Amino acid sequence: MQVIERIEPLRIALAESRRGGERIALVPTLGALHEGHLALVDRARERAACVVMSLFVNPLQFGPDEDFARYPRDREGDGRLAEARGVDILFAPQPDELYRAGHTVTVAPNALASRWDGASRPGHFTGVLTVVAKLFNIVQPDVAIFGQKDIQQATLIRAMVRDLDFPIEIIVAPTVREPDGVALSSRNAYLSAPDRKRARVLSRAIFAMRDAFDGGEHSTVALESLGNAVVRAERKVQLEYLAVMNPDTLEPAPVAAQGSIIAIAARVGTTRLIDNVILGAPDSSA
Ligand code: PAJ
Repeated sequence: MQVIERIEPLRIALAESRRGGERIALVPTLGALHEGHLALVDRARERAACVVMSLFVNPLQFGPDEDFARYPRDREGDGRLAEARGVDILFAPQPDELYRAGHTVTVAPNALASRWDGASRPGHFTGVLTVVAKLFNIVQPDVAIFGQKDIQQATLIRAMVRDLDFPIEIIVAPTVREPDGVALSSRNAYLSAPDRKRARVLSRAIFAMRDAFDGGEHSTVALESLGNAVVRAERKVQLEYLAVMNPDTLEPAPVAAQGSIIAIAARVGTTRLIDNVILGAPDSSA
């Protein structure tokens, strides 16, 4: 595996792969790698001979009161995991090269970002789309892989690719979970042992709603009240949203249907966690 920190040597390495006729896949990450990230590498490998993983804690997508400074960073460990999983190029850009002094242009989403995570994290998705657009332009991959775990992010990236004509195929891979159902997340590292147990309530609530849907309950009101009751039973978890959504617009869906998204965000202690399921889709959960 090559570890590259600057744009120019990356472009040279990629030009060589392209000359050799290789397809290029990109897996963007913030690092603190776990099995969820590594499963994306497997998907990338199915599609391309050259797999590039980016590793960059993007300051632009963190709010002033968020965890940018304490976000887990483990360059060595990440390098070992990425290499063992078969990443060909680990691109770990320097912040000063990615955001040069005086940078002024960003990629801002509109309606799709106004709800849910966008509502509670102002500017977050502008930060995400800006860095992803930059990575797309730097790497120029044929295909890029994202996780369903961050479904609003994945939906916005698909919209950006469509609306701004990026010639890149976007793959969204299923959520990888712990055996107890909790979605893998770098932020799980913040949880105390009791909070880690409490975190199970997110997947428990959305799975209960999915099971009720599978059992024939399609009313959003009924499904949401079922899920809300599950969350309320866990007294120290503060629900932010729990909703049935249209998968294209992320608008609340009055009636649940195959393909609808059930998504949840909640604070467990001081840590904000998110999760979702797509109705009728296979989930990599137990
Ligand atoms: P990060 O949180 O590091 O996640 C990188 C990718 O891994 C994202 O596409 C995310 O959806 C996916 N992922 C995270 N947990 C997962 C899980 N349990 N199962 C499957 N996939 C999972 O998301 C970001 O970084 C950033 O916003 C980024 C896109 C890199 C832009 O900075």
